[in-house]
Amino acid sequence: MAEWVKLGPADAVPLGQAKVFQAGGCRLAVARTASGFHAIEDTCTHDGGPLGEGELDGELIECPRHGARFDMRTGTAVVLPAILPVQAFPVRETNGELFVELPDSTGAKTKEKGTR
Ligand code: FES
Repeated sequence: MAEWVKLGPADAVPLGQAKVFQAGGCRLAVARTASGFHAIEDTCTHDGGPLGEGELDGELIECPRHGARFDMRTGTAVVLPAILPVQAFPVRETNGELFVELPDSTGAKTKEKGTR
């Protein structure tokens, strides 16, 4: 069963930028685009690059390591060298706070190791 996990204030993620959050033991890249807030796994499927530290270009985020691009809305890899998608998670804003919906036993590859 999925659960909504509070991330923090929505204004911590300005329009056109991405930030990294920890939620449910996972590292998430959360971006605010023209279409709203989106969350994906923070770890690039090519070689583990930190996607939340990448540049946001419209709905796409570019991995800072080798330039793969992912669609923030779906997690789809749209530019090589990444081929496989990252997991995307629903995000909602309620009373100025951001929440992400995580599966109960999230299989996100960004799950932290050695904590909790
Ligand atoms: S690690 Fe992301 S493109 Fe290589």
